Amino acid sequence: MRCAICPGSFDPFTLGHLDIVRRTSRLFDRVIVAVMANSEKHNLFSPEERARMIRNATADVPNVEVIAYDGLLSQLCRETGAAAIVKGVRGTQDLEHERMMAVVNHKLTGGEAETLLLFSEPEHLHISSTVVREYLKYGLDCGELLPPEVAGDPALLLKTGRGERR
Ligand code: PNS
Repeated sequence: MRCAICPGSFDPFTLGHLDIVRRTSRLFDRVIVAVMANSEKHNLFSPEERARMIRNATADVPNVEVIAYDGLLSQLCRETGAAAIVKGVRGTQDLEHERMMAVVNHKLTGGEAETLLLFSEPEHLHISSTVVREYLKYGLDCGELLPPEVAGDPALLLKTGRGERR
């Protein structure tokens, strides 16, 4: 059984991320979407909130499972026996960063896991979690950037001021 990991901070999970996960699910038997920590970023949503949003957004893809993992990606690859790490790239900036991470992860897995890069669809090139967080901060509607399950998540609605406060 060929297993791939789609790792990311997913803060939150966008339509661009969903497209990459769907395309990966056609190439592998098992796809693990791993919500992880990026030490360069401060997160708006908790790992549990992010994992819930992704679970709801990918509920119709049978070979996808979602976890929150607070460790090294290479360690997760070893634990799951994943043959590939799959990431999306929108342009040269993403590419340069992912190239560096791919080399590190290849080394740390002893060559067991390869990184595969999928090019984002043109309609997703302007979408990023950073843009979504900026929209949320200024109260803009980010419905066009997100799967409906994410846009309607209680934790996200709370950030827009449209959710129930307890
Ligand atoms: O969505 P992002 O922010 O581009 O995802 C980056 C992420 C979370 C995949 C990356 O930061 C990561 O792999 N974090 C886990 C720790 C790790 O393995 N770091 C690389 C080796 S030092």
